[in-house]
Amino acid sequence: MTKQATSHIEKVDGIYNLSNYDTIYENFDWKDAKKLLSAAKTGKINAAYETIDRHVDEGFGDKTALHYINETEKRSYTFKEVKDKTDHYARILKENGVKKGDRVFIFLPKTPECYIAILAAIKVGAIAGPLFEAFMEDAVRDRINDCDGTLLITDQELAKRVPQQDIPSLHTILYVEDIEKEPLQSVDGDQFVEWVDWEDGLIIHYTSGSTGKPKGVLHAHRAVQHHIVTGKWVLDIKDEDVYWCTSHPGWVTGSVYGLFAPLLNRATVVIQGGRFSAENWYSLIEELGVTIWYSAPTAFRMLLSQGDLYKKYDLSSVRHVLSVGEPLNPEVIQWAWNSLKVRIHDTWWMTETGGHLIVNLPAEKIKPGSMGRPFPGVQIGILDDEGQELPRGEVGQLAVRTPWPGLMKEIWGNQDKFKSYFQYEGWYISGDLALQDEEGYVFFQGRNDDMINSAGERIGPFEVESKLIEHPAVEEAGVIGKPDELRGELVKAFITLRQGFSQSKELLEEIRIFVRKNLSAHAAPREIEVVEELPKTKISGKILRRQLKALEIERANKARLQSEGVLHSR
Ligand code: WTA
Repeated sequence: MTKQATSHIEKVDGIYNLSNYDTIYENFDWKDAKKLLSAAKTGKINAAYETIDRHVDEGFGDKTALHYINETEKRSYTFKEVKDKTDHYARILKENGVKKGDRVFIFLPKTPECYIAILAAIKVGAIAGPLFEAFMEDAVRDRINDCDGTLLITDQELAKRVPQQDIPSLHTILYVEDIEKEPLQSVDGDQFVEWVDWEDGLIIHYTSGSTGKPKGVLHAHRAVQHHIVTGKWVLDIKDEDVYWCTSHPGWVTGSVYGLFAPLLNRATVVIQGGRFSAENWYSLIEELGVTIWYSAPTAFRMLLSQGDLYKKYDLSSVRHVLSVGEPLNPEVIQWAWNSLKVRIHDTWWMTETGGHLIVNLPAEKIKPGSMGRPFPGVQIGILDDEGQELPRGEVGQLAVRTPWPGLMKEIWGNQDKFKSYFQYEGWYISGDLALQDEEGYVFFQGRNDDMINSAGERIGPFEVESKLIEHPAVEEAGVIGKPDELRGELVKAFITLRQGFSQSKELLEEIRIFVRKNLSAHAAPREIEVVEELPKTKISGKILRRQLKALEIERANKARLQSEGVLHSR
C-alpha cells in the first residue's frame, strides 16, 4: 500500500473542496484565514499568543509542542510548558526595558531556547531578529547595526562572535544560560502579551540579492493568516502530526514553516540539533515517528548519496514530504519514492513573500520539473521586460499580483529597494524566471539576477566580494554560483592579486578561511580562481559576473560532453 497525504481543504469549515481546484481558486478569499485565528474576535493580534498561548486557553496545554533531539540528549515540552517559558523570557525582556517595536536579536543554535526566545520577543511586541547560527562577526554586526537592534539573546559560545563595541545601539546582551538559571514563575493569562495591530512588525529576516549588503525584510503580524492557512493546506497538518522542518529559524523557512505555521496548527514540532548526518536524520524520523517532513533538495541529495542506508530504518511514519529553496530534480523524487514510499511536494516562495505562493497541494497531480500551481488566492503572471503578461508556455519574469497577507511590510530603512520589487503596477517581481503551462503548472527557469543559491541558501555575491577584497592579497573579486550536482550551485570567486603576491595553494586557502572566519562558512567560496583581469562594463567599470558565470557553464558543459565521450580532449 502506498501512503498519500490527504487534503485538508475539504475539511476547513466545509468551504472548500480540493477535488475542484478551479472552483476553490475562483472562490478563495484570504479573509477566511482570519476566522482560524482567535484575533478574529478581538481585532487585536499577537502572533506568539496565536502560536502557543491560544492552544493552552483552548484546553490543549498538555499536548507536546516541541521535541528536541541531538546526538546526546532528548527533551520535550508541552504547550503549557512553552507558554510558561515564553512568559519567563518575556518577563526578563521587559525587565531589561524592551518595548513594542524594539528590534530584539536572537543568535542561538537550533534549540528549544532559540524558538522560545523568538516567541518571547514577539510576545512583548518587539520585532524578532533571528540570526543563523553559522554567522561570524561581520555578518552579525552588519545585521544588528542595520536596524539598530537594542537587545540580543545569545549563549556564552556564540557571544564570542558578537563585536558589541562595534554595535552602538546594542545596550544589552542576555545569555540563555543566565535566563535558564532564574526560577521560572508560571503566570496565568496574557500578562506579558502586547496586543498589537495586524500591520505591526513581527520578524525581520536578512536576505541577499545580487547587489549591496543583505537587506532586512520586515514582516507584519498579519502574515500569520498566510502561515496558518498554508500550514493546514500545504503542509497538511492535523492534530496527531509530528512535524519536522530541517531549517534554522534564522532563515525564513525555519521561522515561518519551522515555527509559526506548524505551531499555529497545533502540531508537535521537532527541533533537531547537532550536525547533519544521514544516520542521525534517519534515526530521528524513526525514533520520533515523524509524519510530515519539510526540507530541501540538497539535503535529499545528500541522503540519496548514502544509497541503501535507509533500509536500516523504519521510516513508515512519514506520510507527507515537502521541498523548498531550489529546483527539485527527478532523481530526488525517485529516491523519496523508493525510500519513503511518498511523493515529494515542491513549494515555491521567498523571504519577501512571507509564505508559500506556488505549491503542489497534497492531493494534486505532480508534474516533475514543476513547482506546482499558484496557491488559491494567489495570482501569478509571467511578464516580459515591459511588464506585459506573456502567453502560457513562454519564459519571462515570475510576478505575483499584490497584495497577500504574508507579503513583506518593508525593507528596513531602504524604501528604494522596497519599491524596486513593485516596478510594474499591481505586481510583485520575484527576480526568478519561469514559465506556466496550460494547466497552470509553473516551471522554474533560473534567476534573472546574480543571486547565488547554494544548498537552498541565498548568498549575495556583493557581500562575499566585499569580504574578499578586505584580504591584503586581493585586488578585485567577482563572485558567482557555479553549477554543482549536490548543492545546485557552489560559491566560486574569481580574483586578481595585488602586486607583490603570487598565487599558491596556501594563499588561496588562507583567503578562503578569511571569508569563512569573518563572514560565515556557507558563504565562503569553495573555489577561488586567480585571473589576470576581470571582465568589466566599459562605462561604469562594474564587474561582469554574468560573463564569469557563462564561462563556468561553458566549462561544465564541455566537461560533461567529454565525460560522455562526445568530445576528445587532446
Ligand atoms: C529559489 C526560501 C526552485 C528562488 C523560501 C527564490 C526555488 C529563492 C524554489 C528564494 C523552488 C525557492 N524551486 N527555486 N521550489 N523555492 N527557490 O528567500 O530563486 O531564501 O527566488 O526563500 O529561492 O530564496 P529565499
